[in-house]
Amino acid sequence: MAIESNHFRSYSTHPSGNVHATNMQAPDGDDDRSDTDSEITEVGEEEIPLYFTERDGRLFHSHGSSPYPLPVDTAEQDRINGQHEILRHFLLGIYVDRNAVREVLRGSPTRQRRALDLATGTGKWVLDLAAEFTHVKVYGLDIVPIATRHPPHNVFFEMQDINQTLRFHDGDIDLVHARSVSMAVRCYPDLVKEVARVLRPGGLFLACEWGRYPAMSEEVDVVTRLPCSCRFFNAVIDTLHRSHGITPVAQNLCRYISDSGRFDQIYSHRFAIPIGDWHENPVYQRLGLQYRSILELYADSMGVMMVQAGKSEAEVNELVRSYVDELYTVSGLVSHYYVVQARRV
Ligand SMILES: C[S@@+](CC[C@H](N)C(=O)[O-])C[C@H]1O[C@@H](n2cnc3c(N)ncnc32)[C@H](O)[C@@H]1O
Repeated sequence: MAIESNHFRSYSTHPSGNVHATNMQAPDGDDDRSDTDSEITEVGEEEIPLYFTERDGRLFHSHGSSPYPLPVDTAEQDRINGQHEILRHFLLGIYVDRNAVREVLRGSPTRQRRALDLATGTGKWVLDLAAEFTHVKVYGLDIVPIATRHPPHNVFFEMQDINQTLRFHDGDIDLVHARSVSMAVRCYPDLVKEVARVLRPGGLFLACEWGRYPAMSEEVDVVTRLPCSCRFFNAVIDTLHRSHGITPVAQNLCRYISDSGRFDQIYSHRFAIPIGDWHENPVYQRLGLQYRSILELYADSMGVMMVQAGKSEAEVNELVRSYVDELYTVSGLVSHYYVVQARRV
């Protein structure tokens, strides 16, 4: 894998546990402590393969302690990139509350603005934010180096386990974004505490997760209307819990954030993203078709996870096949996407 080394910075999460270089200079020469942390090292090209491991023909992270069970290969990258594009259309951008984000990232003569994206994946959200706010330094953290090799000047992709204390100092960050991190996180309330620590008072937390239950555009009894989707998601939820200790967080985001006592002005939004071409709006029809293909990739990845957790291949193939059949045959299907915005007190 050819990945240019000096665009990935590691903070003590290299699979070997080694920390190679110290006193790295800030990329633009400023001596701000967030960019000159002495424990940041550059990831050498020869080290990149160590971040991955191959199983059953798919590529996974090799990180010892992340519970994240899905592959991180090209198919998964296509899935998360496709999801990002679809969300951009439905949210009319990469966040919901334009005024709040602009206000929190407004240029300041006394403070370098910083935004942080947790479990950034391919880094699409980071790149979009950095293009819109060129004066903001935008950091994307992940445990695998799958983001671009050629980031713009204000983007920094770094390897760090988000279950550990983040390398940033108290109050360093103006905006934290965490999207689809539920399977990467051992304890969401602990993550909320850490987010509160790195955010400055008045800083924003944007927490976004997909619901993991089948849903329809109208209130119906999904158990009778979508039996195969229910069976598939019950098996997914059960496997995630039993084999990886992961529980669904989407519907609890508000509570976790509120219970921390560190945030106020907590607003939540739930979007219903159509699956397939049933919607009357032609734009949503097109997006719904794209989204259905993305869910097929998701079903495959979840299938791999269930086989690795000990379910028989025949059983998993049947679960996946019947779920995907339902995606093609039932009109009115949606996925729920939850967005919570909270301000650090
Ligand atoms: C479903 S993807 C979401 C990517 C991105 N946030 C998005 O919405 O496009 C989850 C990402 O979490 C990363 N990840 C898993 N465990 C992690 C951990 N402990 N610390 C940081 N990143 C992690 C994976 O490598 C993967 O890129």
